[in-house]
Amino acid sequence: MKIINGMKVYVEPSYEEMSTLAARLVGAQIRLEPNSVLGLATGGTPVGMYKELVRMHKEEGLDFSKITTFNLDEYYPLSRESDQSYYYYMTDHLFSHVNINKDQIHIPNGEAKEVELECINYEKKIQKAGGIDLQVLGIGNNGHIGFNEPEESFAKRTHLVDLVEDTIQANSRFFDSIDDVPKQALSMGIGSIIKAKKIVLLANGSHKAKIIAETIYGDVRPQVPSTILQFHPDVTFVLDAEAAAELKKYIK
Ligand code: PGA
Repeated sequence: MKIINGMKVYVEPSYEEMSTLAARLVGAQIRLEPNSVLGLATGGTPVGMYKELVRMHKEEGLDFSKITTFNLDEYYPLSRESDQSYYYYMTDHLFSHVNINKDQIHIPNGEAKEVELECINYEKKIQKAGGIDLQVLGIGNNGHIGFNEPEESFAKRTHLVDLVEDTIQANSRFFDSIDDVPKQALSMGIGSIIKAKKIVLLANGSHKAKIIAETIYGDVRPQVPSTILQFHPDVTFVLDAEAAAELKKYIK
């Protein structure tokens, strides 16, 4: 582990080892504070971490019974029953395999009629739960965290986002056709994310190498939303060797 710009950076040889380490960090949080509030991410990256957390639950008794979760985002509009919804993803990869209390699970409602109200209420629920103790993040090729796309200013709270072409393209691999990818999403804001006490960001693959270097070393700016993490006091990057490749020139 290296400390770069005040942030912890772990580089693991493979996706499997990266996923195991990420699960250990989340597992340690759960064991140390069994009533933790976790912020959770979806996408391809954390699938291995969830798999390992499920194994830790089944084989090592990792106890989710007092855990509360808030997911970063959800497509809009999209029914939670759709197998592309993040509700479906979370049920499939984690919630249906562990002893989490279903009342303690929160995911923005992609079917909400009153979007503004849904966003305000989501923030209120996070506050009422006492804020997020540990936030897991993936990262988009363009530096989005949650679905906070590059903007002229940092979005503060949960809000409706217009997905950019790059994201629609990247996520089309999960859909039958690119036309099926929703054009909008509800996402926690950058402000909501950086209020978390701890942040663990996962990235793997050579396509993430450039944005990881930019996130850690680039100027902090809303056009690359992930750069805001440089201002957070407790960020851990968990990378595979490919995603860390562009850091080599900096790590001595
Ligand atoms: P991925 O997505 O894990 O599928 O690469 C990450 C993201 O877009 O935040």
